[in-house]
Amino acid sequence: MAAAGSTGHDRRAESLLAFWAEAGVDAMLLDAPVDRIAAGRTVPPRPAARPAAPAAKPAAGASPSPDVAARVEDARRLAAAAADIPALAAAIAGFDGCPLKFEGAARQSVFCRGSVDAPLFVIGEGPGAEEDVQGQPFVGRAGKLLDRMLAAAGLSERVFITNTVFWRPPGNRTPVLAEQQVCAPFLERAIELISPRFLLLVGGASAKSMLRREEGILSLRGRWFEWRPADGAREIPALPTLHPAFLLRQPAAKKRAWSDLLTLAERLDRPERPA
Ligand code: URA
Repeated sequence: MAAAGSTGHDRRAESLLAFWAEAGVDAMLLDAPVDRIAAGRTVPPRPAARPAAPAAKPAAGASPSPDVAARVEDARRLAAAAADIPALAAAIAGFDGCPLKFEGAARQSVFCRGSVDAPLFVIGEGPGAEEDVQGQPFVGRAGKLLDRMLAAAGLSERVFITNTVFWRPPGNRTPVLAEQQVCAPFLERAIELISPRFLLLVGGASAKSMLRREEGILSLRGRWFEWRPADGAREIPALPTLHPAFLLRQPAAKKRAWSDLLTLAERLDRPERPA
């Protein structure tokens, strides 16, 4: 808790320190000295010959193939018929149009957790092994870090959490566009039912597919975009941020994710302008 009489800067510093401590960062020094001047003189190794360019991937905004389009239509029809989140969860569980259901998932579909009145709608990439077992998104190591970050920013009770796809991709690979396209009608219906004020797009796979953009997450993160559903019926401000699985591998990037969450918390607490 902030000390009585502390300023906004103090509170930001205190909450940042609490976040770092929570993340296990409790020392600023290494055990042995590092000669960074000598390190800077080292000649970098020559880059290896470039590998052949990979086959072109469909762009994030590309129209689905006829086969995928038919599955998207099925998903749209089922999603539209779901009057609430439990009905939508049942529709997803019964849907056979996403190949991940038969390729990656060992147990079940993984749809959502959190509050149906949440002002903040969090969208990750796709379930992993632990999510497949428990049937809930973000319950493994990355999910625990996400929860600690949301708690440190005072957002725990204000989120609804889901993913771009609802079955585990084999070997935890990134979902491909066609898989995200067939799941999108369910995701859009969930956004419609929850009617959040903001979207938090967690990781590159989520940010690129939701915003239909090609840039990497390091360039997208921390910038506000307007998300529109396929029919363009409305707009919701969306903020991309770094994925907690990336932060587990690159702890130095945590300060950028933290700054994104503070931006979001500050905007959530700002009074809404009258329509
Ligand atoms: N990573 C995600 O993007 N989503 C999950 O649900 C778990 C890990």
